[in-house]
Order: sequence, then structure tokens, then C-alpha cells
Amino acid sequence: MDHRPFYVTTPIYYVNDKPHIGHAYTTILADVLARGHRLLGDPTHFLTGTDEHGLKVQQAAQKNGVSPQEQCDTTVLRFQELWKKLGITSDDFIRTTETRHKTVVQQILTDLHQQGLIYSAEYEGWYCVPCERFFMEKDLIDGACPDCHRPVERLTEKNYFFRMSQYQQQLIDYIESHPDFIQPAHRRQETLGFLRQPLGDLCISRAKSRLAWGIELPFDSDYVTYVWFDALVNYISAVGYKSDAKKFQKWWPASYHLIGKDILTTHTIYWPTMLMAMGLEQPRTIFAHGWWLTDGHKVSKSALPDSNRPHRPVNPIVLADTYGVDALRYYLMGAMSLGQDAQFSEDAFILKFNAELANDLGNLTSRAIKMLEHNFAGLMPPAAEPTAEDAPLREACKVALVAMQKALDTMHLDRGVAEVNGAVRAANRYFDQMKPWLLAKNGDMVALGVVLRNVSECLRIVSGLLFPIMPGKMSELRTLLGIPAAEIEPQMERLKIWNVLPAGVAVKPVTVPLFPRIEVAKPEPAPVLPAKAVVAEVVGNPVGVIGIEDVLKVSLKTAVVLAAEPVPDADRLLKLRVSLGSEERQIIAGIATFYRPEALVGKTIVVVANLKPRQLRGLTSEGMLLAAKNGERLTLLTTDADIPPGSSVG
Ligand code: MSP
Repeated sequence: MDHRPFYVTTPIYYVNDKPHIGHAYTTILADVLARGHRLLGDPTHFLTGTDEHGLKVQQAAQKNGVSPQEQCDTTVLRFQELWKKLGITSDDFIRTTETRHKTVVQQILTDLHQQGLIYSAEYEGWYCVPCERFFMEKDLIDGACPDCHRPVERLTEKNYFFRMSQYQQQLIDYIESHPDFIQPAHRRQETLGFLRQPLGDLCISRAKSRLAWGIELPFDSDYVTYVWFDALVNYISAVGYKSDAKKFQKWWPASYHLIGKDILTTHTIYWPTMLMAMGLEQPRTIFAHGWWLTDGHKVSKSALPDSNRPHRPVNPIVLADTYGVDALRYYLMGAMSLGQDAQFSEDAFILKFNAELANDLGNLTSRAIKMLEHNFAGLMPPAAEPTAEDAPLREACKVALVAMQKALDTMHLDRGVAEVNGAVRAANRYFDQMKPWLLAKNGDMVALGVVLRNVSECLRIVSGLLFPIMPGKMSELRTLLGIPAAEIEPQMERLKIWNVLPAGVAVKPVTVPLFPRIEVAKPEPAPVLPAKAVVAEVVGNPVGVIGIEDVLKVSLKTAVVLAAEPVPDADRLLKLRVSLGSEERQIIAGIATFYRPEALVGKTIVVVANLKPRQLRGLTSEGMLLAAKNGERLTLLTTDADIPPGSSVG
């Protein structure tokens, strides 16, 4: 079997504040992939770290009355401690203030400057201090920063620029000829949509007079390097670029850069063009996951710790302490599906835990082990020939094996987990159908041994497949099954074989349940409505109620946004070009105060497809998009999973 090196990275995290669930998610995802590839026998390298330069860190240091380096040195510990607690098995942790990184950034800058790929020019434009970004007049929304909506400053100063524009066509061609380069597909579309506008050069310097905390430009000591130009280099400085050719050759190109969708442009435009300028290969896949939301808002560290604030940070340490690290990892991996946003809810967490872990997997383990203890002195019965009765169980295990392997390759971890749970349910059904307690009562020890053996084999496979997600609990389960210490860490090839547990091996008693049920205080029962009121609601015909025939008149379809731009002299309107699969349409929508045009490109939205075209500000609008509105907030309706444009909604 071909064992290709697997190199996975997380974004490097800003050290301006403590980590939250969004950071924990990406790092756990990378850990699961790294552990998964180790399970497959691939040489694996897993890199994470911290982004320690830039204004955010400088400001946090000022606020805390410490030097920037002290700010980094204390905050980095919070990340490192959290990763330890969450069972993260990174092979390297890079800090951008380390010499091994700074030297490489400066060497790259020198090379590109010498080749004329970095030049100086007088810059006049708008600068957003909190975002540390320059904007052109056309990018501003109502004269403010299009990202954070705060006021921008007019600046005229000398700066250094990277000739990013010259790689525009090369990048488009690369993305088009490498379908796996940017995933999922709608993020690829979003990047291509962005590249339809002319690409400018990238300002890579910041005057020390405004921001001193950064890597000094090797050719001008009045400037430091723009934090993104510095940070992105971590992916190669950590694996030996310009310092250890052998190491670099082994690990580069990276297999996966895992990122959140908010840092798509920097990773799919800045980084690939930087690599092109350096003459290096592109990473195989840049995968952008969605956001964790609470009450519909992105979880963020800048939110106030006031529990009434809707987008309060969800503290991974508190969750891990309350429910256990493995339960947290399991929930996070199973609840977010490929590239979509996911709602974080403690109620959903508890429901999932109780149903899938406490009831299905935990109880099955306790039942099987207890019966082995009572009837076979805790010794594993011999392997049995396959029968028609256990065929569905074996089949479910096979399906789970294939699905988990595929899930690791395609990032559909939620689907892998679902199939493994399918195998656990199949084992529970088999158990109930074979009624081992009756076999025991009747003294049919051979048949009883076969049932317990088969269920144990299923548990061995399941514990191996879930090991990358729940290393602690699955080690416990494997120990209970009598698997020796040297084999606790599973190997895929062994999992594919049935009847691996040696006959006569001693299982361990379950002293405490593997996943004790989480008991929640029962809510007050809802008041029961008097019968009359219920009847009135059902038979009455309240004003505003429509029949199904009216609903069916409206044709709702999914559409992908191909391009979006502001409508001149109309602050609230955006002009969208959308694809309904078989046709393209223009829609004029009043969403300019809620969405930046480039943030819409690639999104799958829902449109009313059979609306009579109408004129808005002299432009034809051929449809209407659906959005949810609440006071000052508006959010577009999108789909929960990838589905082709033109699919009917209803
Ligand atoms: N320092 C940059 C990354 C540089 S990589 C060369 C940065 N740091 S960050 O700390 O602000 O964010 C790190 C990651 O956390 C990003 O991928 C971001 O998308 C992710 N998350 C932050 N909040 C999130 C959620 N609520 N949900 C999921 N992930 C989110 O950006």
C-alpha cells in the first residue's frame, strides 16, 4: 500500500486573547486527521502554533501594561495548556517570534526584493487601524471599513508592495485545473469570484512609526512586515524551508491547510501567489470550515463575557471539565458537516452524548462485558464461523470501516461517525435479537459464546475507528476488551480483519460506565391548554392563514451567487448574478448594508424563481432572494449541505 506523507496544519492563532471553541475545533479536526492518518500507517506531521506579531498583539500588550513579547509569552501558554488538555498530538508548535521563523521570512523578503517582486511606491488610500488593512475607495461601505465597519484613516506614505497582480491569471488557471485545491467547492467558487475583479499588488510593509511589533524589513529598517506576509510563511519555515532541505522535501507540499472561512482570501490568494513568486509547489488542499455559532452569531473572543450577549464565547476548558475531553471532541467532529456553519448548543451536546455514547455504545459495552464475566469467567470465547444471523452485523462493520477511511480522505467526518454509529446500532439489534440472556438461562453456552464474541469483535472495530476522535475513551474500551497495551493504538489493516481477539484473553470488569449518562434537571411541565382552546385553534380559520394550494404557487429554488457588486448611488442595493443550474439571472437585492459583495460569491442561497421581473433603479430584477430579518439583523437563507443550484425548495 502506498503511504504518502501526510502534513496537516491549523491556522496559527493570535495571542491577543484566550482560545475559544472555534480555535479548539480546528485544532481537534487537525488532530483527528493526524491520528487518522497514523492509523492508516501514513508518515504524519501535524503543525500548529501562534501568530505573535501585528497590531492586535501590540494593542493587547498595551492594554495589559506588558511588553508585546511578554504578552506573547503568557498567552501562548494558554494555547499550549489547552492543546495538552484536549489531547492534541501536534508534532511541532511554531511561534512567529522564534528566530527559526523570523530568519526565513527575512530571507524570503530579501530574495523577492532582489528579484524585483517587491518594490516601493508612494501609497495613498484608506487604512483601517483595527484590521491593519488598506482599502480602495470603492471597497468602503458608507465611508467605513467593509470588514469591521469602523472609521478608516486617509494615509499617504511610502510602502513596499509584493507584485501579487502579476500572478492573477496563473492562479486562476491553477485553481481551475486543480479541483481539490480549494475545498469545499463553494469556497473555490468564492475565490474564483474574487479573482474576476482585477487583483492589486499587496502592501507588505507597515511603518514602524505606527506599528513597531513585527519582523523588520531586511532592506528598510523603518518598516516591519505586514503580519499576514509573516504569518503564512510559518507553514514552510516550520518544516525546514531554507534551513533543512531534507525535511522540507519530506513534508512540503502540505496535504491540508485547515482554516476558517474568514481567512479564505489570505490563504487562497495571498499565500498561493507568494508560493508562485518563491517558485514552490502549492499545498494540496486548503480546506475552509464553517463557523461555530451561538444563537446565530459567530463565537468570538472579542465578545463580552456577559452571558446575555448572544455571541458569547464558548469556553472549551469548561466544556471539557464538565463533560470530558472525549465527549467534546466527539460532539465537535460529528456536529459540523463539511464546510457549513454549525450551531453550538449544550442541549444538543447532551442529547447526542446520551443517545449515541451513553445509551448505544456505553450500554452495549457494559452488557457484553458483564455477560462475559458471568458466563465465561471473563475469558473471550473462541472465534466462530460466520452465520446468516450475524451477517448484518459484519456487514455494518464493513460499511463503517469503508466510511471512516473515506471520511478521513474527504473530510466528511460526520458521515464516518454516522456509519460507525450504524455498526453500534446493528450490534445492539443483534444482541436483542439473539437474546443471550435466554441462551444463558438455557445453558446454551456455545451459542452464547458466539454472540458475545461477535459483539466484542464489533466493539474492537468501533473502538479503533473512533480512536482518532476519542483517544482516551477508546483506549479504555480497548483495554476492557483485553487488547494488550502495545495494540491499544489501532492499525487500520488489523481492524479490517474479523476475529482478531484471541480466544481465552481476559476482559476487564466495567467498574464505572464508559459514558455515564448526563442527567439534566427536568424543565417545568408546559401548562396544559384547556380542551376548548385547542379545538378553537384547530378548527378556526384565523386571518392570514393560507392553504397548501397557495404555497404551491411559489417556486423556490437554490441558486449559487456567481458575482455581486454594489448598485451605483443606491446604498442599500447589490446587483447579483446567480445561477439556477440551467439558467443565469440578475437579482437586485436590498442587502448592501448586511453583506459585502465578495462575501456573497459562491454562497448557495434560496430564491423565488417564478416572480414577475421588476425594475429597481433602472435595473431588472429577475427573482427575489430569501433572508431572515429581525430588527437590525439580516441573514440570507442558505442550505445545510452542498446541493446543486436549481434544486427545488419546499
Ligand atoms: N492569525 C490568523 C491566522 C493566521 S494563519 C497563517 C487568525 N487567527 S485567529 O486566532 O483570529 O483565528 C484562527 C482561526 O480560528 C481562524 O481559522 C478562524 O476562522 C477560526 N475561528 C475563529 N472563530 C471561529 C468560530 N466561531 N468558529 C470556527 N472557527 C472560527 O485568523
